[in-house]
Amino acid sequence: MNDPTARVRIFDTSLRDGEQSPGCSMNATQKLRFAHALAELGVDMIEAGFPASSAADLDATRVIAREVRGAGIAALARCHPGDIEACARALEGAAAPRIHVFISTSPLHREHKLGLDKAQVLERAVAGVELARSHADDVEFSAEDALRTEPEFLIEVFDAAIAAGARTINVPDTVGYTTPAEIRALFAYLRTHLRDPDRAVLSAHCHNDLGLAVANSLAAIEGGARQVECTINGIGERAGNCALEELVMALNVRRNYFNAHTGIDSRRLVATSRLLSRITGMGVQRNKAIVGHNAFAHEAGIHQHGMLKHRGTYEIMRPEDVGWSQSQMVLGRHSGRAALADRLRTLGFAVGEAQLNAVFAGFKALAEKKREVFDADLESLLLGSDSEA
Ligand code: KIV
Ligand code: ZN
Repeated sequence: MNDPTARVRIFDTSLRDGEQSPGCSMNATQKLRFAHALAELGVDMIEAGFPASSAADLDATRVIAREVRGAGIAALARCHPGDIEACARALEGAAAPRIHVFISTSPLHREHKLGLDKAQVLERAVAGVELARSHADDVEFSAEDALRTEPEFLIEVFDAAIAAGARTINVPDTVGYTTPAEIRALFAYLRTHLRDPDRAVLSAHCHNDLGLAVANSLAAIEGGARQVECTINGIGERAGNCALEELVMALNVRRNYFNAHTGIDSRRLVATSRLLSRITGMGVQRNKAIVGHNAFAHEAGIHQHGMLKHRGTYEIMRPEDVGWSQSQMVLGRHSGRAALADRLRTLGFAVGEAQLNAVFAGFKALAEKKREVFDADLESLLLGSDSEA
């Protein structure tokens, strides 16, 4: 189907930025299994690792590059020859390899982390991109801590990186500091001030320190970003990265608002999220959007009553569209008669008005004592009401 909305590429970094966070490390076999799942999900690019960081990372990246097809494979490097050469070696077997080079550009990082002035950062960025280009056609350049960098310096560095051959320009909010309005304006500024903005895809990479990573990534798309870097379940350094499943479903559900779409098969989101949790042992919170256990669960009587009349009253997307089998009507102390009657019908009981009243009274009393009333509890209540009748 010809879709007139903008195509946003999904660059998944669960195996690099995600994996390097506490509690998320994976071995090569687990990484390979997850990389296959990401390719099936439909991500455009899988960042497989940071090969210079350890022999294990280099090996895992090499295996993924050799075996996974259907998505590009990226590897990360500082603008150091050794890092870039390690990426080139690790990516040898890839069908669509990308070398991703980065250097910090903000005043704080220039002074305290790198001990370099602007001219030196610029020189290293260009040398890094040029060396990466000697090994791969597809090179991405990132300005670490871009959102705390002087915008004019960002233009200078990005223009130079594009001239040196970078075809993706990534703008990381490394410490999750920005706001939606600010990052939207920055992308609009880049689009109007870069010498040749159409020679490179602009990319957003947002961290979640203020809980704004998804909102900021969506705002970046509004400003002109056409690649978003994200992770499944939002795993990543500190409070994590932009959660892929939330970003993708925001674009799907509000397609007419954002005028953008991705190549993700959303029906695989829950399975991919579960796989990552099983591999890392890191669960997702119950009320996490899209993939949390409660994301399609309804307990309040008014909501359940509305849902029974029309799902759209309290659901903005279908659970099946993200990989759940159905919505869940949880029977608890907030539930009402309509949901109880519906569950009894589903369980095959034809109850009249008087019996429903009796069961409802018993259900309410039980629900005061228990968090959730299960089908077996209802069956006992029903048997009780029969014997009293
Ligand atoms: O957050 C960050 O700045 C990064 C870069 C290395 C892309 O992860
Ligand atoms: Zn990051």
